[in-house]
Amino acid sequence: MLRWFNTAPGHKVLVVLSPGRREGRSFIAANLAIVFAQQGQRTLLIDADLRSPTLRSQQALFKLSNSTGLSGLLASPRGAEAALRVQGLPDLAVLPAGTIPPNPQELLGRPAFGDLLHIASRQFDVIIIDTPSGGDYADAELIAARAGAALMVLRKNQSLVPQAAQMARRLQDSGVALVGSVLNDA
Ligand SMILES: Nc1ncnc2c1ncn2[C@@H]1O[C@H](COP(=O)(O)OP(=O)(O)OP(=O)(O)O)[C@@H](O)[C@H]1O
Ligand SMILES: [Mg+2]
Repeated sequence: MLRWFNTAPGHKVLVVLSPGRREGRSFIAANLAIVFAQQGQRTLLIDADLRSPTLRSQQALFKLSNSTGLSGLLASPRGAEAALRVQGLPDLAVLPAGTIPPNPQELLGRPAFGDLLHIASRQFDVIIIDTPSGGDYADAELIAARAGAALMVLRKNQSLVPQAAQMARRLQDSGVALVGSVLNDA
């Protein structure tokens, strides 16, 4: 991953995805973001899981106040200024998912999402994106195709190898660089 971030100035966005539910995407995305921020990298964590209830969101993980989130920004585009600073970690900002919209995939497919990443790339060194389960929705692959790079999380005694292999193939077919994988809970 470090190699990915360091090889080209445009390499700033990493999408955290996995084939199944509850495999630890949100947990790994949050921890990765904290590690990069602790190293002094200006880090933005975007919660692009517009499917799961707030209880399982980055907003809940970081105990953030209820504010404008990604869904709101995509509906009426602005910059990443709605991202919330995390107390005690000056280099970490989190953009929560926001209100669960009726049309997540349509919102994520809008040019506004690309614009947001573009603007955020100027303000941050590292952008980590949390996503919903790849087996249930195409959202993660859509986001990865836009971002260009992904990290696949698999969970010991839980993830299915054929599902993971299929997802990896689809990502490669859409030109996404799979820059790493995590065997969670091992
Ligand atoms: N390495 C780990 N050690 C201990 N607990 C973990 C670990 N990874 C994940 N968990 C726990 O497992 C549960 C699922 O993790 P998480 O919410 O990060 O997964 P997810 O893939 O984002 O799930 P969802 O499909 O709901 O978005 C959470 O309760 C989380 O705290
Ligand atoms: Mg999650």
